[in-house]
Formats: sequence, C-alpha cells, structure tokens
Amino acid sequence: MFAAQAIDHHDKSELYSELATQLSALLEGERDPIANAANLSALIHEMVPDLNWAGFYFLQSPDELVLGPFQGKVACVRIAVGKGVCGAAVAERRTMLVPDVHEFPGHIACDAASRSELVVPLIRNDVVFGVLDLDSPLPGRFDADDQAGFERLAAILVEASDPIRR
Ligand code: SME
Repeated sequence: MFAAQAIDHHDKSELYSELATQLSALLEGERDPIANAANLSALIHEMVPDLNWAGFYFLQSPDELVLGPFQGKVACVRIAVGKGVCGAAVAERRTMLVPDVHEFPGHIACDAASRSELVVPLIRNDVVFGVLDLDSPLPGRFDADDQAGFERLAAILVEASDPIRR
C-alpha cells in the first residue's frame, strides 16, 4: 500500500523533488487518467502546506473546461476557455501564477478564502487537455519554485496516464 512520507517543507526544491519521486511510485502500474488525477490531488492536499484547493479541470470541448478530481470545497463546474485563471491558462497555453487573485481581471472565486492561485496547463502531444489548479488562502503563496515543482508533477501525471476518453 502507498503511504505518503513526511517531507521537510522548508526546502522547496527538496519538497517537489521528493513529491515527484512519491508521485511516480504512486502512479506506477496504473494508467487511468481520472484515478491518477484523483490521487495526485490527494497527495498535494496531504503534502503541500497552505493550500485550500488542489485539483483538475479537463476540456470537454475545445471551449469549455469541466471540473475533475479535486480536494477542497465544492467548486464551479464549468469554465469557458479564456475565462478566469484556469481559462486563461488554456487560452494562453502557459502556467498562470497569480499572487493576488483580487488583481486578476475575471478571476472566478469558487472559495472566497482564496487569495493566490497557480494554474498549470496539462499538455499532451502539444495539445492542452486540462489544467492543474492550486489555490491558497495566503496572498503571494506561489513563487517560481512552486511553478517549476507543480509543472514537474503535472508532466509526470500526463506521462504516466492514458488520454482521457470523452
Ligand atoms: N479560480 C479559478 C476557478 C476555479 S477554482 O479556483 C477551484 C479561476 O479563476 O479560473
């Protein structure tokens, strides 16, 4: 049985490197994309401090994201591409690091407690098919190390999982 191992949170590069190792072990032998996304949200929720939401949205059509597995409060189900931080990450095909969500035009507040956000697009064969979304109640919670760390976790997930069937 897999059990997440405690990590020293003070060293971010150590944290994400250890998380990447644990994620690879967690996903070994399983290619179901929803199961793997669910377990990655649980791993993040358990191991990464100061988050109030961690989870996924997947494209169900070229212009709409639909809620996937997550940990946190109930969330908005559908987000149009180009809307909010998640929709912007898809439209711009890049990670969105938002230090203060109140300053982001069009931010979609699923949980009023959220103050900063990091959204990583999920890309397979050059095509965006979803996003990994992290929210924090702390302003300025995410920096370039967090971005690099979560981009690495997202890449491991994509590599370890089959494409989502619609
Ligand atoms: N804040 C996001 C919406 C998703 S929730 O944070 C879970 C956005 O602006 O796209």
